[in-house]
Amino acid sequence: MISLRCLALRSLLGALLFLNAAALLTPSAVSQTSSSLAATPPMGWNSWNKFGCNVSDKLIREMADAMVSSGMQAAGYQYVNIDDCWQVSRDAQGTIVADPQRFSSGMKGLADYIHTKGLKLGLYTDAGTGTCEKRPGSLNHEVQDAKTYASWGIDYVKIDWCNSEGLDPEVQYAKLRDALAQSGRPIVFSICNWGVKAPWRWGPKTGNLWRTTGDISDSYDSMSLIGFGQNGLEIFAGPGHWNDPDMLEVGNGHMNRDEYRTHMALWALLAAPLLAGNDLRNMSAETKELLTNSDVIAVDQDSKGVQGHRVWQEGPLEIWAKPLADGSQAVGLFNRSESAIQMTLDFKGIGAPAAAKLRDLLDHKDLATAQNSYATEVPKHGVVLLKVSK
Ligand code: GAL
Repeated sequence: MISLRCLALRSLLGALLFLNAAALLTPSAVSQTSSSLAATPPMGWNSWNKFGCNVSDKLIREMADAMVSSGMQAAGYQYVNIDDCWQVSRDAQGTIVADPQRFSSGMKGLADYIHTKGLKLGLYTDAGTGTCEKRPGSLNHEVQDAKTYASWGIDYVKIDWCNSEGLDPEVQYAKLRDALAQSGRPIVFSICNWGVKAPWRWGPKTGNLWRTTGDISDSYDSMSLIGFGQNGLEIFAGPGHWNDPDMLEVGNGHMNRDEYRTHMALWALLAAPLLAGNDLRNMSAETKELLTNSDVIAVDQDSKGVQGHRVWQEGPLEIWAKPLADGSQAVGLFNRSESAIQMTLDFKGIGAPAAAKLRDLLDHKDLATAQNSYATEVPKHGVVLLKVSK
């Protein structure tokens, strides 16, 4: 499965860079590109969190089938993304070659199949000489690879940052952006350099999304450190260009129900890409309900495209809010402590009317109109996610 080799180090590196760079936030440095690609945060599935290097044509087809049959496609998920290890070498012309054993019908054949389902296919590569799993990288093959991907019918490319010694990410990712733009096919461009050199500052003019930290793992500590650490980055996100706090771990088994609800609610408030990372072929009813929760997905996919931020904090208790296109707000009451606790949302504090209409989004329940404030119990590591409107 996923090798632990340098993951821990990369995570730490990403977190440290993130903390340093957060001090340098300069909204004026943002030059926004408009893009019809990723007008809302991309939704789909990626092989890495659950399958690591164990990818094949069969697995990807089964996952696409499951995306349709499970209701994930109907809920908005559309990208089926193959992460590291699909590629083995380059041929005499320098063209990247997919593993002929594992992908025997070739990438074009696989893309055709994915497209017949109304889904889209994504691939992974690396900006340096090799991928993190030592497969060929794109360095000095940027234009050639982009053309190859376009000829196969690829719709999404994630580009990693391993083996990139001596390269400047801002320069190298701009080169990759230009290569993709020349490929003749609209391709979502996902920058994955773990927050190195504050990609939120140059990401908006370079890609559709950029990772802000090192890798997530399937634990409350990892997920919450990354998720709650996004505060401050909201000024850089918007339609066509998103901060990416990494793929979902929902359903992978090492967090409990309340922790996964926190994961999903927080990612929705963050307008984060929703890339499921579990096995879609055998999800529990609880996992399926959470991943396809239409009330929560509507928050993530809201057309206003504003990333939420923290509006209140007292120790381990945090309230986050995200303004929505219809004038209402999505509000998360998070309890990061080790026991259940009563939390109170003060309407004035978030600029909501004194008599506010409330809906519990995770449980799909309209609540009685409340006056001035709303108090509720929030479980340990849990969340209550509300829609607060007039
Ligand atoms: C990491 C990346 C992960 C995954 C992995 C594959 O650098 O952050 O999301 O793509 O490489 O080797």
